[in-house]
Parts: sequence; C-alpha cells; structure tokens
Amino acid sequence: MKPSFTLFTVFNLAATATGLVSARADWPNGPLVTSGRWILDASGNNVTYAGTNWPGHNDAMIPEGLQYQSIETIVEKIKSIGMNAIRLTFAIQMIDEIYDNDGKDITIEQALVQALGQTNGIKVLNQVLEKNHQFNASTTRLEVFDAVAAELNKHWWGDTDFSTENWVRGLSYMADHGKSWPALMSIGLRNEPRDPTSNPALSRSSYNWQTWYEHVREGADAVHAANPDLLIFLSGLDFDTWLTPVVRGEALTPGTGRFDRADFAGTAGEKLVLELHNYDTGATSCDALRTGLDRNGFEALLPGAEAAVANVLPVMMTEFGFLMDDRTWRGVYASCLAQYLPERKAGWTIWVLAGSYYVRSGTQDYDEDWGLLNHDWSDWRSQGYVNGALKAMVRDTLS
Ligand SMILES: *[C@@H]1O[C@H](CO)[C@@H](O)[C@H](O)[C@H]1NC(C)=O
Ligand SMILES: *[C@@H]1O[C@H](CO)[C@@H](O)[C@H](O)[C@H]1NC(C)=O
Repeated sequence: MKPSFTLFTVFNLAATATGLVSARADWPNGPLVTSGRWILDASGNNVTYAGTNWPGHNDAMIPEGLQYQSIETIVEKIKSIGMNAIRLTFAIQMIDEIYDNDGKDITIEQALVQALGQTNGIKVLNQVLEKNHQFNASTTRLEVFDAVAAELNKHWWGDTDFSTENWVRGLSYMADHGKSWPALMSIGLRNEPRDPTSNPALSRSSYNWQTWYEHVREGADAVHAANPDLLIFLSGLDFDTWLTPVVRGEALTPGTGRFDRADFAGTAGEKLVLELHNYDTGATSCDALRTGLDRNGFEALLPGAEAAVANVLPVMMTEFGFLMDDRTWRGVYASCLAQYLPERKAGWTIWVLAGSYYVRSGTQDYDEDWGLLNHDWSDWRSQGYVNGALKAMVRDTLS
C-alpha cells in the first residue's frame, strides 16, 4: 500500500526532466539512444542512471531546498556519493501560467508569496537570495531551473483538471527549453498516470492501456519534434507500478492493438525507456518482491529477454523510497532493492533529494522524513543508510 504522505496526490500534473552527471569530461556524451535493454551514449557505450529525484513541482513550483542551501552545495552532496543522475520534477501548470501570461514567467518573489503568503514568502525569498547569490527578487522560476541545470552540467558534464492539449504543450515547451541544458538527457511524459477515481464514468471509459497508448504516442511525438535528442520515459498505469502489456506485447485493452516502436513518429521509437515506481515498503519477502518487479516490466532486462518477451527496452526504477531513519533501510524492502537493481543493471533514482519543502499539504517548511537530507538540507538524514547501503548501491549499479 502506498503511504498517504508521499507526494503522489500532488504529482498528477508533473512531468520530469532527467539530467546526467559525472566527473568524466566526455560525459554524458549524448544524445543517448536505446538498443534493446541498454541505453547507449553517442559512442555506443552503456549508460546507467544511479541518482535521485529533486522535486520542483510543489506549490511554489521552484526546485526545493534553496532557502537552506545553495544549488552548488546540494549538487556537491549528491556527487559525493557517486550518483550520476537527477530527476528534476516540474509542474505542467508552470508552463500553463507562462502561456497565460503572454510567454512571461513569474518571479520567484511572486511565486513564493503566492505559495507562502506575503510575510513568509518574503522571508523565504530572502533566505533563498542569501544562500544563492546569483538570484534576485526578479529571477523567474524557470531561471531557477536553468541555474540547477547549469550546475548539473558544470559538475556533471556532462483528470478532471488535466488537459491533454496543455500537457503536450508543456512537454514541448520544456523539451525545447531544455535544449539550452547540455546535461539534459531525457524527459518523462506524464508521471504516474492515475485512475480518475473522482470521475467514475471517465475512469470506466478511459483508464486503460488503449487510451494510455494513444496519449503516450501523442506526448512522445511532441517531445521528439521539439527536441529529437531526448530519451523519452514512459510511465505505467496504477501509479506507474506495471508495464507488463508493453513488455510482453499483449493487447492494449480494451482494444486489440499492441505496443510497437514503429508507431512512434520519426526516430522516437529508438528513444523510449520504460520507468516503473515501487513503494511496497511493507514487503516481507524479497523473492516475492523480485518476482513481482520482473513481471511488472523488469523482465525485459533479463538475459535472453529477446526470446522471452516481445519488447525489450531499457527499464528503470525512477521512484522508490522509505522512511529515512536508522533502521528502515535494513528491512526487506530497502535491502532487497539495493541488491535487485544493481543485479538487473537497472538504472534508478531514489525518492527523494529533499529535507523539507517550501510548502506541502498546506504546511510551510514541511519536514520530509523520507528525504535523503536533513531538514536544512545540510547533511544526510540517515548516515547509516548512506554509508551502509546507498554508496554501495551506486557503486554496484555503475560498475
Ligand atoms: C553493456 O553491458 C553489458 C553487461 O555488462 C554487456 O553485456 C554489453 O555488451 C554492454 N554493451 C555495450 C555496448 O558495451
Ligand atoms: C536578476 O537575476 C537574473 C537571473 O536570475 C538576471 O538575469 C538579472 O539580470 C538580475 N537582475 C539584477 C537587477 O541583478
């Protein structure tokens, strides 16, 4: 079961941009392409992601944590344990607002005041400016995203309220905008497409693989037209927990069509990566967890997959996470994934690079007890986990 305090409910309108990172001068050596279950760089070498999610889609729609630390400090911290990827989330709503405002983004001052109220908005703005000298009150939200992207490149070369039209427009906008971010390698379409449970009629008529495929093709084609270099990540149904019909080439019900790379415009079919999420934090059997993950899509990574399944594509776990205390990481769920993902040579990005949020669920300065970082983003929240498991997981994944 999904714990209610993770981000899922506010994540509906978010899409994601993933940059890559490394100390190697030729990294990430894009554009990347897929070849069977591998992602390859421009020289044909394997590329695997091992990183974390940096939320930028919450109420203020600015990358989180900047009232506590500079972008540089946060990036340095992640780099220090060998991670090579950041999955930076943004809200499609931000792009809608830019279109509604004659193409102009709002300033971070306006954004913070809108999200936190006049007094606290200005207080947090001043903290952000104090920690990040390159910004001022007129800096826009998108300029903050640009600054994060620039920092990543410096270190690391290398339902009812959902409008499909705005979604495609928002993706195209960010894919195009991202051309100025050399470390940007991939973009996720719709994060965790959810069942519109508040609208049972719509749910019955459209929450299915057939509709999923129509929209995924539309989104992927739009991204590819706007920026043909990017890898395109596809997220599955039911909170992105499974993509079995895609991997196995089963009928995309209720229709009879099947997933086919050739259905995508241009060369977009060579850019597709499957992303899955898993939050089975209460798992009691690693064997059962592994079997489920294989069935949900990771079987595409198994040796001999070409003979066993219809569509062999790279599969990544772009979200998993758990309470960052002293003991949870030793439990079945965390220790099983720490072993399983490197063993499958699957890329991954852990949820979440955060210690607190500007505002979340109506609470300002909301503490993120699943965060890799402590409340003021200054150090690891669980030293035990980072030193006892996470560093090794990064190393084993990238080795
Ligand atoms: C990618 O890595 C796998 C496993 O180490 C290897 O079998 C495969 O040949 C590699 N591909 C390339 C292009 O290096
Ligand atoms: C404020 O910062 C933005 C970039 O964030 C910059 O383009 C602009 O020139 C700065 N304005 C002032 C007055 O320094």
